[in-house]
Amino acid sequence: MIKQQLDRFNRLDLLGHATALEKLERLSAWLGRDVYVKRDDTTPLAMGGNKLRKLEYLAADALAQGADTLITAGALQSNHVRQTAALAAKLGLGCVALLENPIGTDDANYLGNGNRLLLDLFDAKVELVDNLDNADEQLQALAARLRSNGKKPYLVPIGGSNALGALGYVRAGLELAQQIEDSGLTFAAVVLASGSAGTHSGLALALSEALPELPVIGVTVSRSDEAQRPKVEGLAERTAELLGMRLPEHFKIELWDEYFAPRYGEPNAGTLAAIKLVASQEGLLLDPVYTGKAMAGLLDGIGRQRFDDGPIIFLHTGGAPALFAYPGAFA
Ligand SMILES: Cc1ncc(COP(=O)(O)O)c(C=O)c1O
Repeated sequence: MIKQQLDRFNRLDLLGHATALEKLERLSAWLGRDVYVKRDDTTPLAMGGNKLRKLEYLAADALAQGADTLITAGALQSNHVRQTAALAAKLGLGCVALLENPIGTDDANYLGNGNRLLLDLFDAKVELVDNLDNADEQLQALAARLRSNGKKPYLVPIGGSNALGALGYVRAGLELAQQIEDSGLTFAAVVLASGSAGTHSGLALALSEALPELPVIGVTVSRSDEAQRPKVEGLAERTAELLGMRLPEHFKIELWDEYFAPRYGEPNAGTLAAIKLVASQEGLLLDPVYTGKAMAGLLDGIGRQRFDDGPIIFLHTGGAPALFAYPGAFA
């Protein structure tokens, strides 16, 4: 039912095919617990990541509205801004991004390497702001300014996380449900990073209908459970409404908020250890802001027996370009 509803929406096919669901053989042997990874870090644009799925819907809408410029906002090292800028380049659109420095660092790598370096290659126009505390209003003001200069801006919210963008992860949830069914395995949980919440909301919505017994656990990257919950729930409600349905009966938000300290954009010892472990066991790159924290949660969850029996799926949402913004962290 969700699939028919979803198919009514305009989408640019930017992925081309399903991302792989693969077993991490050496890590599983090392842990004594089977861990699979859903490779959304391999989406096929500008070093990959989860945002391309949201942009399939958002950019289709932008083109339908006749936009000539994508505008968005995020941290200096935002993966979302990188993927939006890359897609703007691919579609022949302009891109303007409002960027903040959420950790107040003057480290040259954070300010100029990693994702930030790539924005210049895509010809994105960058405006630095003190903070993004009122991002929607700040983006509306930017849109008004561009309109007065004759441009046709399309506003992509932070993280691409509105109901239309979240459809990308409803679709991903259905794709994953099919792969799980094909595997013949009964998984204990899906674990992912929960930030601006579009990924978590969309995935949880689709899986609550397709595989109602499967827990979807969002490891927060910037907020307490109390602060993150209304964001995920509210967005899931708006996404269901956009699809013309109610939240399924089994819809449930599970959040683990023990792994994001000290704050957004700053890795802790567990984050760095998780990145190092997965890199050294699997040759697989996580990132210091999102997936390193989510993987730290998964590993600790295994150690503390927080999961039911069965293999665990880690949704790899990308972000490795940000490693080059934090070289000192691994020294
Ligand atoms: C690598 C990576 N993982 C996870 C997320 C979190 O996704 P969401 O913002 O949809 O919660 C982001 C968001 O920017 C990201 O860049």
